[in-house]
Amino acid sequence: MDKILITGATGNVGLTTLKLLESKKYPGIEVVAAVRDIERARKIEGVENCNFCHFEFDEPSTYDAALEGVSKIVLIRPNQVTDVTRYIFPFLAKAEKAGVKQLVFISIVGAERNRIFANHRTENHIKKLNIPTTILRPSLYMQNLSTLHRHDIQEHDKINIPGGIGLVNYIDVRDVAEAIVTILMNPGHEHQAYEITGPEAMDFYQIARIFSNELGREIKYTRPSAIKFVRQKLLDKKQMLYVLTLSLLYNAARSGKMNYVNDVFQNITGHGPRNITDFIHDYRDCWIKTDPKIESPKKRKLYRSKK
Ligand SMILES: NC(=O)c1ccc[n+]([C@@H]2O[C@H](COP(=O)([O-])OP(=O)(O)OC[C@H]3O[C@@H](n4cnc5c(N)ncnc54)[C@H](OP(=O)(O)O)[C@@H]3O)[C@@H](O)[C@H]2O)c1
Repeated sequence: MDKILITGATGNVGLTTLKLLESKKYPGIEVVAAVRDIERARKIEGVENCNFCHFEFDEPSTYDAALEGVSKIVLIRPNQVTDVTRYIFPFLAKAEKAGVKQLVFISIVGAERNRIFANHRTENHIKKLNIPTTILRPSLYMQNLSTLHRHDIQEHDKINIPGGIGLVNYIDVRDVAEAIVTILMNPGHEHQAYEITGPEAMDFYQIARIFSNELGREIKYTRPSAIKFVRQKLLDKKQMLYVLTLSLLYNAARSGKMNYVNDVFQNITGHGPRNITDFIHDYRDCWIKTDPKIESPKKRKLYRSKK
């Protein structure tokens, strides 16, 4: 019997991974979703009957119970948790002591090179632990367009991303989840680091055209400067380190550093990743203009994870 603990289990990747693991019904596998608020998590469509445990990175008293009997961990570091020395490393120390046999850490493209990234420090720390680990470095998530940038597209018909004319190799979170599940369920991925990209690199003008075709109204790419973008996100009360990380990533796209794709996802799973046209089609409802009276935070959350 293997018990898999997923952190960040109500977020983009965690929730999609949880749903995928549950749908596969692997014999001898128990899945536990580590969440801050069990009651709230249970209300999310599709996971009502999952196993939940109370867990908060910034509340070390929750670590021991969450790790009880756990043999594998999918570690997703929430963007808000930037002080990894204080809130991630002590959890990993407990996991190591508890004899966890496999760790899959969801890092990010470029984390091995960028010391400012919290995931960089986490990767370096994990390498020193005595837990067989796979580091997965996805490129930017397509789902940023249905969460972080959703409001601009839905309400203002704009993509406000400082990507210049650079190309970006977006990956669908559903594919990230599939890569995670494949790594968990098949031997041979321990002590590996994989960067995974989507199947094509395109600029935001092209992406705006795909949106326009799908939604039947014009979506414009505004091409803001990095400074304007950072200022706006800080005004929106996003955390400084998170905004800087995001800005660095878009800077990488702007300067042509995301102008490539690789076949690592294909090698892990045996088939190619989803493209952005399919993503926009599958999620189209979330950019349809709605009556503000029926819009609710609960409904917004549902768009994070589609089947
Ligand atoms: N966005 C991208 O393009 C991209 C690309 C590659 C890699 N990444 C990496 O992906 C990670 C983020 O994953 P995501 O986008 O799936 O996350 P997300 O959608 O932002 O969700 C964050 C999750 O963490 C939980 N959480 C927040 N604070 C917590 C705390 N103090 N203790 C325990 N849980 C907490 C949240 O729970 P609640 O529901 O309670 O808030 C939620 O389940 C980051 O490490 C990022 O670097 C992002």
